[in-house]
Amino acid sequence: MTRRIADLLRNGQPDESVKIQGWVRTKRELKEFAFVEVNDGSSLAGLQVVLNQDLPDYANVVKRLNTGASVAVSGVLVASPAKGQRIELKAETATVYGEADPQTYPLQKKRHSFEFLREIGHLRSRTNTLSAVFRVRNACANAIHQFFQEQGFLWIHTPIITASDAEGAGEMFAVTSFNLKDVPRTDAQEIDYSQDFFGKPAYLTVSGQLEAEVMAMAFSNVYTFGPTFRAENSNTSRHLAEFWMVEPEMAFCDLGGNMDLAEAFLKHLFKSVLETCPEDMEFFNQRIDNSVLATADNIINNQFERLTYTEAIALLEKADKTFEFPVKWGLDLQSEHERYLAEEVFKKPVIVTDYPTEIKAFYMRLNDDEKTVRAMDILAPKIGEIIGGSQREERLDVLQRRIQEQGLNPDDYWWYLDLRRYGTVPHAGFGLGFERLVQFMTGMGNIRDVIPFPRAPLTVEF
Ligand code: 4AD
Ligand code: MG
Repeated sequence: MTRRIADLLRNGQPDESVKIQGWVRTKRELKEFAFVEVNDGSSLAGLQVVLNQDLPDYANVVKRLNTGASVAVSGVLVASPAKGQRIELKAETATVYGEADPQTYPLQKKRHSFEFLREIGHLRSRTNTLSAVFRVRNACANAIHQFFQEQGFLWIHTPIITASDAEGAGEMFAVTSFNLKDVPRTDAQEIDYSQDFFGKPAYLTVSGQLEAEVMAMAFSNVYTFGPTFRAENSNTSRHLAEFWMVEPEMAFCDLGGNMDLAEAFLKHLFKSVLETCPEDMEFFNQRIDNSVLATADNIINNQFERLTYTEAIALLEKADKTFEFPVKWGLDLQSEHERYLAEEVFKKPVIVTDYPTEIKAFYMRLNDDEKTVRAMDILAPKIGEIIGGSQREERLDVLQRRIQEQGLNPDDYWWYLDLRRYGTVPHAGFGLGFERLVQFMTGMGNIRDVIPFPRAPLTVEF
């Protein structure tokens, strides 16, 4: 049976007979033998394989085993005389599955820029950095499920195609089966959606929240974790057109409970990933951003700062620093403001609550002052907003008014309003941008390098 290299590096014992399979990272040829480092994606470090003249077809095999080639090796583990590795594999047989021509294979042993690696998205996961990112991403996804499952949350699957704009911001991609060269029109020359696949306009979802609220009104505590889509034309290092979001929703919960859950959640994720991926996290700290481990420690051991939007504005107005964007009560916080608060004022994550009504979504619970809503954003150093959430408006009349005030059509939200007609309860939830979390954890500078196949303006290859 084939063993994974991570397992062998940890548990393999001298004299054990094993078989491994993977891709060659490096080859060193000496007179009588050759060293090949093989990586199978299970760990940052590969396994050193020693091939010597006894190997059947030695010269031919070694000639074919260039960087990028795929191989199966059977042999015996031996204690390694080399520094930095406990064991190595003495090959008895080696089968080359596929060669990689050194003249054309783009991933030769040298540093490549992340921009270049994005152009070879089909090969970049074979590099140290990207493979470490995707192992951490996997560990994080696993820890998310673990956290919610242990607390009795039901994992629900919310739709990807939807007819409603969950954020009311109109940043949706349309879904249609029309032939775009010949779209049916009504007599008034408007697009005749009654002839489209769903009989009305449909879109890719921007958030699973509204459906999560439906399910929370039956199961109390639920979460959805899936892809979401935004057609905002933001070419930044923190925006994707397709990203994954984790959205818990809790019945019988207010904003305080929501903040407590979000904070416990982030602490759990950092703790868990440090435990499951210590080598990868060490790698990020050494090679990508030397504050990665200190940040993790800070998240785990310190309480997040909590303040209102009004207090945040006061701090920003007092700052002896000039911002590019204006600071004024009523305007949304820009990334530079968020980062100033988290990085310079508090030096840890900050939860800002009670934003102005006008700049937040229709579903957030109106405060008694009517000027602010029970919103919360969690702002992280280097990233800015990583979580957005709120207590939801559970009062039918207020919600109807808010939908109208925001220029939305209440008919589109009939079922969402029904939740307030039948058995309404105080409830709250939030959305964590999964890629922003992975970015925050690994110190990776660009969000396009923490998702295997990034989707962004003019970017849809692979
Ligand atoms: O703040 P947002 O828009 O909140 C919602 O969608 C709510 N419905 C969530 C809820 O309460 N259930 O988005 C939530 C998070 C943001 O804080 C950010 O981390 C991430 O999603 N996000 C993006 N990540 C990558 N690319 C984008 N274009 C993103 N837009 C939002
Ligand atoms: Mg937000």
